[in-house]
Amino acid sequence: MGKSGSVEQLYQKTLAQYWDLVYSTQAVYDALAILRFYQKLPLEKDNKLILDVGCGTGNASLTFLLNEYEVIGLDYSPHMLEVARKKCARYIRKGKAKFLKGDACSYHFSTKLGLIVSVGGVLNHLASLKDVRRFVESAYRNLRPDGLFIFEFQNRKRLVLDLFAAAETPKHLGLSHHIYHSEEDRTYQKVSGFLKGSGGAYERFSQVIILKPFDVKPVLQICKDVGFRKTYVSSIGDLFRTLANPEKIPDRLFAIAKR
Ligand SMILES: C[S@@+](CC[C@H](N)C(=O)[O-])C[C@H]1O[C@@H](n2cnc3c(N)ncnc32)[C@H](O)[C@@H]1O
Repeated sequence: MGKSGSVEQLYQKTLAQYWDLVYSTQAVYDALAILRFYQKLPLEKDNKLILDVGCGTGNASLTFLLNEYEVIGLDYSPHMLEVARKKCARYIRKGKAKFLKGDACSYHFSTKLGLIVSVGGVLNHLASLKDVRRFVESAYRNLRPDGLFIFEFQNRKRLVLDLFAAAETPKHLGLSHHIYHSEEDRTYQKVSGFLKGSGGAYERFSQVIILKPFDVKPVLQICKDVGFRKTYVSSIGDLFRTLANPEKIPDRLFAIAKR
């Protein structure tokens, strides 16, 4: 995968801490919606191990663990993994969780899983549709014959918006700016600010995350080509409902791929 090395270097220590402060609620919210959906399926009964692809600092993983599931978290960034391991330490000690460094587009587990999830726009970190195919193939390979892959991504309408957000807590001041480059068809998210260190002094951080808008149709086609029986796109409000026009408004989308 073309961008592998850069993603690994991208989520450095301060960005990992910043991400954890600012985006933990979204990951918990997504994980709870996925669980509400999963628990209505017969598949759930005997499949309590969940793979969290691009687990980051482990907020979705922790939500699964708190709800009596077991988790494998997979991520490229050692710094994100370090935060996740610390957060889920008691579950790691009990043998309920492990966090592994690995590529979302190339992984193999001996156990075949019932549910693989990926939230927080991991898909938008991929460089091309070729990588999307590898991302989908990896999930397919590691699922049980009736398993489920749920992956969230930002739709094109949302990623091309010139978004600016500022946030302040006693621990940090952060600015996030999305700038879309039409010639490259990529969005540069500049994240910068100050983070309070353990000694009380503020440390400055500044990083650029490159995000790729993917159209829904080719992503669904890839799922079909790889072998998923049925794939549809929904939104967080109701993962059972197929969105008729997922590109219409800026949105975070959830692809539900059934093996
Ligand atoms: C925006 S964060 C989301 C983290 C987490 N899923 C959440 O929702 O809080 C994206 C994560 O994807 C990881 N990532 C991106 N591309 C990856 C790849 N090819 N393989 C493994 N991890 C990847 C990054 O290291 C980062 O931790």
